Amino acid sequence: MDNFAFYSPTYFDFGKDTEYHVAELIQKYGGTKVLLHYGGGSIKKSGLYDRVTDTLKKAGLAFCELGGVKPNPRSGLVREGIRLCQQENVDFILAVGGGSTIDSAKAIAAGSLYDGDFMDFYRGKAKIQKALPIGTILTIAAAGSEGSPNTVITDEETMVKKGTKSDLLRPKFSILNPALTCTLPPYQTAAGATDIMIHVCERYFSNTEEVEITDRLCEAILKTIIYEAPRVIENPEHYEARANIMWAGMLAHNNVCGVGRVQDWASHHIEHELSALYDVNHGAGLAVIAPLWMRYVSKMNPHKFILFATRVWDVPMDESHPEDVILKGIEAFEAFLKKIGMPSSFAEIGAREEDIEKMTDKLLNGRETEGNYVKLTRDDVIAIYRSAL
Ligand code: NZQ
Ligand code: ZN
Repeated sequence: MDNFAFYSPTYFDFGKDTEYHVAELIQKYGGTKVLLHYGGGSIKKSGLYDRVTDTLKKAGLAFCELGGVKPNPRSGLVREGIRLCQQENVDFILAVGGGSTIDSAKAIAAGSLYDGDFMDFYRGKAKIQKALPIGTILTIAAAGSEGSPNTVITDEETMVKKGTKSDLLRPKFSILNPALTCTLPPYQTAAGATDIMIHVCERYFSNTEEVEITDRLCEAILKTIIYEAPRVIENPEHYEARANIMWAGMLAHNNVCGVGRVQDWASHHIEHELSALYDVNHGAGLAVIAPLWMRYVSKMNPHKFILFATRVWDVPMDESHPEDVILKGIEAFEAFLKKIGMPSSFAEIGAREEDIEKMTDKLLNGRETEGNYVKLTRDDVIAIYRSAL
């Protein structure tokens, strides 16, 4: 196990009706003037918007609002949010929604206290030194942004999707009420489950040795999603299954499973180019890319795939044919993704063969390789994209 430091200061308020605690929590963390940030309208339809604004009003908390965050959040709305925060002297940002809304809130939080263009943080030109505090009310179990230091934004001018991270961006609190996720369409639920699984896989597929504790944590989360995702697809109102998925989504990405090891992240980076170019749902894009990445790299570096097959997918070990065991594990994963309604090819997500080279160049951006479990060259990345045709 490698040396590590782990800092995860978010206060989680988990369970039914916890959204009613929002004003109390904002005040606990020093907020007096709030920016309420949300997406395209699901919170108005579900009645959550009314419950949150009533709670803020009853507590006498002043707030302004900015809705309209799109999935794969854009730089333009972040700039609008920064202007609003500066004009209105906002001192706390409340994100109500999914990963896109939370990531947009994080960008506004850092950009509001920065003299230059906030995209400098995403282009690697500046490091986040301060940020407004944020809190979240999560409505979809997926990205894990409710407990992570990360944020991913699409630059509208170049349509490049880039991430940055800072512990200053970890939410002060996150309200996780699983009942809020019951209104999700099955496709969004399934895409979220896929994202959660790949957050684990990016960490699980590592060459760092003697990491039994984090391996076992990863396997527990994967097995939980394998058990619970089909139950919520079948019965969207299943509170207990929703609850297990929601907590799994947080654990998958606050890095408790990733410490002490070298992580991979190739599947995510390969997928981000699809989201940037075609506005593909992030989880759906991962459902296409991750199994293909597995098929490709398992031939070059098989060792972790034996564990994936036998411990996660319960494939019996066959010492004389380990390659069959590996393949059965990957096939089980593919069958699971299909069962929950996820795509497996470029055609299903509207991606095109003629863009493959362009996406690869944008992804590598001058670097020789991508990923760590296997260091993928330009040709390898192209081959993975091509296998989705
Ligand atoms: O915008 P609204 O109307 O709210 O609708 C959303 C959106 O259309 C809808 N939705 C959310 N909760 C709902 C609901 N619909 C009905 N009922 C509910 N309860 O779902 C759609 C997707 O929302 P979005 O926020 O985009 O989902 P997700 O949480 O999957 O976030 C995806 C974004 O997070 C980034 C992705 O790249 C992508 O941009 N990621 C962020 C990470 C991080 N910050 O740590 C890590 C991830 O790997 C990921 O890259
Ligand atoms: Zn992800």
